[in-house]
Amino acid sequence: MRKPFVAGNWKMNTDSSSSVGLAEGIASGVTETAGTKATVAVFPPFIYLQSVIKALGTSSISVGAQDVYFEPDGAFTGEISTSMLKDIGCTYCLCGHSERRHVIGETDELINRKLGAAIAGGLLPVLCVGELLAEREASKTNDVVTRQLKNGLAGLSEEKVSAVTIAYEPVWAIGTGLTATPQQAQEVHDFIRKLLAGMYSDELAGGIRIQYGGSAKPDNAAELMTQPDIDGLLVGGASLKADGFLAIIKGAI
Ligand code: PGA
Repeated sequence: MRKPFVAGNWKMNTDSSSSVGLAEGIASGVTETAGTKATVAVFPPFIYLQSVIKALGTSSISVGAQDVYFEPDGAFTGEISTSMLKDIGCTYCLCGHSERRHVIGETDELINRKLGAAIAGGLLPVLCVGELLAEREASKTNDVVTRQLKNGLAGLSEEKVSAVTIAYEPVWAIGTGLTATPQQAQEVHDFIRKLLAGMYSDELAGGIRIQYGGSAKPDNAAELMTQPDIDGLLVGGASLKADGFLAIIKGAI
């Protein structure tokens, strides 16, 4: 049985006081049952990670970074390493979010190096994959997801890949208010799981969590989660209000 994994990606939002307020609001609203039944994590901007970790206190909510660099230290101006993230208490990091791929220009190869470094350094990465609207319209969804998964996970052993969560986020659904239908999402999640079974084993594929992301909100969370291969949600906009995020967690368990 895969435990649902609900995560809030705050992107480049909040400030020093609202990030702490949001963290406190989520921590005080996550009931013991929700904390046991689901993995809950938030991904604040780097600069607020430490104050958010402090604000979450002893709650069951984990914290992750929105990105990580693959080198351990040195002359890499502006970058943040795995060991720095571990040092302040991060558990997770996103790798290959669509905004990093399509706005910042990250390649599959760079994402692969970041993912490898994250695992080697003891972080649990969430590898984001998903097609652009034009790619879906050209029936290229499976090809894109296959390329992003194979290149993103290249060179990693099955044991290492078992530390990874996959997030399927169709780019046309991110921040647009357009959500993939539960059936559309399920189709791709099923495809991803079968692909992983072929690349590694049935055991790996059966245990790995695949989140859906793209305009997930309180009123569609429960329906998305009814699908057999949707194991959680990666939530952007709707994770910026504690009440909304808590309602999504409730819908997901
Ligand atoms: P959204 O973002 O929920 O605002 O669509 C999801 C994401 O980018 O992870």
